[in-house]
Amino acid sequence: MSIYLQFLHIKALPKDTAQALKKKLTQALEILKLPKKSFSIILTSDEKIKEFNRTFLQRDYPTNVLAFPQRDDPRYWGDIIISLERAKEEAGQYGLDLENYLLSLSLHGFLHLLGYDHEKGLYAPWLMLKNELNLIKALTEDEKLIKFLQRREYMPAKLAVNVDHVATVREARKSYYPDPVHAAVLAELGGADGIVVHLRLDRRHIKERDVKIIKEIIKTKLILEMAIDPELIKFAQEVKPYQVTLVPERVEEITTEGGMELEGRVEEVKKVVKVLNRAGIKVSLFLNPDEKTLELAKKTGAQIVELHTGMYAEAVEEEKRLEELARLERGAHLAKDLGFIVHAGHGLNYENIGPVAAIPEIEEFSIGHAIVGRAIMVGMKEAVREMKELILRARG
Ligand code: PXP
Repeated sequence: MSIYLQFLHIKALPKDTAQALKKKLTQALEILKLPKKSFSIILTSDEKIKEFNRTFLQRDYPTNVLAFPQRDDPRYWGDIIISLERAKEEAGQYGLDLENYLLSLSLHGFLHLLGYDHEKGLYAPWLMLKNELNLIKALTEDEKLIKFLQRREYMPAKLAVNVDHVATVREARKSYYPDPVHAAVLAELGGADGIVVHLRLDRRHIKERDVKIIKEIIKTKLILEMAIDPELIKFAQEVKPYQVTLVPERVEEITTEGGMELEGRVEEVKKVVKVLNRAGIKVSLFLNPDEKTLELAKKTGAQIVELHTGMYAEAVEEEKRLEELARLERGAHLAKDLGFIVHAGHGLNYENIGPVAAIPEIEEFSIGHAIVGRAIMVGMKEAVREMKELILRARG
């Protein structure tokens, strides 16, 4: 049995690092009591892995690891491709030991070669991570890496569907159809894990009636988005949605423009969180993914943060998009460390969801406009099913 370590378009690792990596992987094979077959690990650049991702998996972005199982040759498991550039960057970002991080990526890839697939089946990501963690625990005493991997131990991300814009169409004619209540039920049939409605101060789309009926009729959870306003707080206390997401609101805006500003407002927000929690409602804050904002959010007692993905979604230049994606990754990581349940949303669509859905700390996505837009073409059930599939597929 051999492990071939190759370097493609990148400077080779120091000999002792490469040797240590091979040794640990050999030990992993012994632990797994596997037949003696060979496999390759190809360490390469971001650009090259992006090329592999695009050519073989139709995903036009770089990633940290890819695996290509070999089913025809009984002596060969297959090939694992790792972006050394990205591994270095991620190890630096999360303060991890590069050698051990490379080991964890190699094990992740190797489990794929064995047929494990975190993208298939509801419990598959969890199962795969359990195996990765057990191997890392057996091979290293790297507590930091173990904690890092444990943080990724989530179930597949959920999708909460916002039906506001069904009401927008209704209100365009001040009619009684289409009904967001019907849309909510169909979204659930398509696989939605929750229904979101934004009761705006000017009631431009969703009305109180919609919120109340949706609350009664759905089988999943109702998420009520709203600004901090005494009348709305009273309404939430009466209706008791599963969750309230507090958002900033300006009357003249077309849609929510930015995350909440918490500077100088912590006490005010804290009071609202307390009142809603007392009514049995979980509270989420819609925030920009910044360190200072997240740290202030911690002081409010809110249970959830929804990271604003609007800047990522609107970025036109590739460089800016990747910069915003990295900002979301850092924000999600910090929010999780601070003890929040992490959600994300705004401006997400069928083209841009992939990279964000791959951020493991994010447990739920809130998506409206793109799904309602597609529902006009393919129906609500199908539009939700397609989005859910993209989210599950991106999970890694
Ligand atoms: N999250 C929040 C807090 C929002 O205000 C909105 C828009 O109502 C969304 C998510 C959904 O955004 P989009 O309609 O662009 O998917």
